[in-house]
Amino acid sequence: MQKTLIQSECRLALNPQYESHSLYPREAEKVLNADGFGRAKQSISQWPGYAPTPLLELSALARELDVASLCYKDESSRFDLGSFKPLGGAYAVASLLQKQIGQRQGGRKPDISELLAGKHRHTAIDITVTAATDGNHGRSVAWGARLFGCRCIIFIHETVTNAREHAIADYGAEVIRTPGTFDDAVRKAAETARAQGWHVIPDTSDGTAIEAPRNVMQGYTLMAAEAIEQLPANRAPTHLFLQAGVGGMAAAACAQFWQTFSEHTPAIVLVEPQTAGCWFDSLSAGHPTAVAGSLKSIMAGLACGEVSYLAWQILRTGATAMMTISDTVAEKSMRLLADQRRVDPPVVAGESGVAGLAGLIEAASDQQCRIMLGLDEQSRVLVFGTEGATDPESYHKIVGRPPHEVASGRHKL
Ligand SMILES: Cc1ncc(COP(=O)(O)O)c(C=O)c1O
Repeated sequence: MQKTLIQSECRLALNPQYESHSLYPREAEKVLNADGFGRAKQSISQWPGYAPTPLLELSALARELDVASLCYKDESSRFDLGSFKPLGGAYAVASLLQKQIGQRQGGRKPDISELLAGKHRHTAIDITVTAATDGNHGRSVAWGARLFGCRCIIFIHETVTNAREHAIADYGAEVIRTPGTFDDAVRKAAETARAQGWHVIPDTSDGTAIEAPRNVMQGYTLMAAEAIEQLPANRAPTHLFLQAGVGGMAAAACAQFWQTFSEHTPAIVLVEPQTAGCWFDSLSAGHPTAVAGSLKSIMAGLACGEVSYLAWQILRTGATAMMTISDTVAEKSMRLLADQRRVDPPVVAGESGVAGLAGLIEAASDQQCRIMLGLDEQSRVLVFGTEGATDPESYHKIVGRPPHEVASGRHKL
């Protein structure tokens, strides 16, 4: 069986560490587990505006791709922030504040409802959280800090767009732009936090700090759990195509499906930008391997050169295959989803949010890829549309119409 396929717009490889999904392994259980999921769900479901996001069936596209079904979990309406990210960043902020307030007041951890009611604002205001971000994570940490009443400083790197910077500042956070890549901003945030006594809420982990990035990922598992409940006739998909930056989102989805479906867990295909294939390289090598270079891609949320240590504990054996795709492929998929002449309802999806679907479209359209992934007319595929138009200007440029126009046509067909 062929193990690697290289084409101009995409690369596909099977993960040499993957055998089959049997029991959820112990090293993964230490990171994400049922107790952690219960706590995340209990907290997040009490936040104002919480509602499961819709699971859309894209039947016409499924027919075109010659698969049995295609479901798209649309995260564009999540807490009005435009992406799935508040599930993670804001949940980690809430958990940190509960712990810190408990310690500072010398007593029990306050309940999330007390935090939401502002009962501990006088203590929370003295606590500063910080994060490095390519946009969405910082926005979610800033939103969480405002919701729960603490201070927030966010680090962004050179190429983060002004629109993304302003979207973070709108939630009252101070934003600091630093030279270099996302990974450089991660290091800068950690150093500054150490010097200033701030609390870092990273969405990635190098294995030294565990608690906050684990809570970020545990929050994301709620997105996968909602999808599982919403699946038509509760039938497990056969394939998940999951976009990966540092891998937190993909690991969370993989873990939730693995814990639920055990040996019937779907094949997990990771999708990354061509310029930032750190999962592709790491899984191919069998150990975390950093990608050098500018990592530049329109898929800003996925432009990461290093895998997260915590996500690695799950995806090392949980990922079935990995793909990289070009920016052109992502743009094409954004336009396809927005096209109102199609039979499926138009969907507004941002550059990073569409990557899983874009990977599927490339793979399903190529006979060798189909064989490698076991994709056929019986396959039931699920993808996560992890963001809407989080940068409306950039969306407009790529799609040719502003996001509100695309969205307003959504129910017309
Ligand atoms: C919209 C979107 N999708 C997917 C991801 C990837 O998540 P992770 O870095 O946890 O792999 C990100 C990360 O920022 C994102 O913003």
